[in-house]
Amino acid sequence: MAILISGRGSNMAAVVDWLHERRLPVELVLVASNRPEAEGLALARARGLPTQVVDHAGYPDRLAFDQAMAQTLNDAQPDLILMAGYMRIVTPWFCETFTGRLLNIHPSLLPAYSGLRTHARALADGVRVHGATVHAVTADLDQGPILAQAVIPVYPQDDAQGLADRLLPLEHALYPQAAAAVLSGLARLTPQGWQFDGPMAPGFETLRFSQRLLHRELAGDLVHG
Ligand code: GRF
Repeated sequence: MAILISGRGSNMAAVVDWLHERRLPVELVLVASNRPEAEGLALARARGLPTQVVDHAGYPDRLAFDQAMAQTLNDAQPDLILMAGYMRIVTPWFCETFTGRLLNIHPSLLPAYSGLRTHARALADGVRVHGATVHAVTADLDQGPILAQAVIPVYPQDDAQGLADRLLPLEHALYPQAAAAVLSGLARLTPQGWQFDGPMAPGFETLRFSQRLLHRELAGDLVHG
């Protein structure tokens, strides 16, 4: 597996640590950043992972940059690539090159709030729940087939930072198990969307995967049905 980052890298570190703690048979072949100053690069190096920087500032356009990043990825030969706080809009060419092998985590309950400032926009709309989505990356920004979602409550006193802080631990729990579901063979992307009937590869027998992860405070709400 390879992981693409641009900044803090907390999701990258959470995925790596989660897989390591469970001794799942996954090799981390590359952590790559488009920004040389990404803090996550140090987290990756501290975990003994190979890192590469492909600085987008050195390329004339999106396609030239994506081709360089794709070359770097292909050299590492990952079966799965995670975008984890990778702040680039990728070209359709990049999506097609890695079809079925490219996941992203987005901090909203997609298809609502694609793009940026998701927490502030959700608060402005007065939503009662918010969350994060792990999805396949396609040429439609933030709209590829949904693999798994995490849901948190929204309270009247919340601000955008508070929502982000409440959501992040769920992102850190959601992303590794969703990635492991794909790596294990359990989750397969088909033209009809995700199917969850694949045979599990050896070594993943202990994996438990849920397509939904609920914040514990939601347990206090009324249940219908
Ligand atoms: C996360 O909130 C993720 O959902 C979004 O960007 C943020 C990245 O944080 N795509 P980090 O770099 O993983 O700490």
